[in-house]
Amino acid sequence: MSRDPENTRPEDRARPAGAASPRTPVVPPPPVDRRGFLFKFGLALNAVAAALFALPLIGYVVSPMRRRAWQAWIPLGQADAFPVGETRLATYRNPFTVPWDGVTADIPCWVRRISESSFQVFAVNCTHLGCPVRWFPESSLFMCPCHGGAYYEDGKRASGPPPRGLFEYEHKIENGQLVVRGGQIPTLSQQV
Ligand code: FES
Repeated sequence: MSRDPENTRPEDRARPAGAASPRTPVVPPPPVDRRGFLFKFGLALNAVAAALFALPLIGYVVSPMRRRAWQAWIPLGQADAFPVGETRLATYRNPFTVPWDGVTADIPCWVRRISESSFQVFAVNCTHLGCPVRWFPESSLFMCPCHGGAYYEDGKRASGPPPRGLFEYEHKIENGQLVVRGGQIPTLSQQV
């Protein structure tokens, strides 16, 4: 079949009749499966949302275990060394220390003996900004020297900037010894 010179492209005019076009055929791209894409995208979004939701929950569940990992039962001395009706300073050696902690690993606490079998053991650090509080038997108050915070003898907040009462240690009597669960220093977010 002869070519119509009027309707033939210039590059085809130079090619012998019947020869194949040198241009490669254009293969159309596969159609985009929009539904599949949206489905996978939705799955990925759900996975991210589930992870964001679950992580704080997991942290909340495991945080008490982590906290307990830094606490141990530590003897404070013979229970009889604390007279009934008095509040005395005691010190324990933090078992979770490194050698260069030195004396900073000696942790003081206030021991109040209410009766033969009833004790309260308070952390010395003020719940405002952590200054060590002192016990004044004359007024039956714990006083903070930094900003004037005051606490009653049972550790409850009396006045000043502290947001709450003194932190209390878990304690028990074991073989005549007063033993407290100590180690990690109590804070507002991590109480003993
Ligand atoms: S640190 Fe005790 S009142 Fe501020």
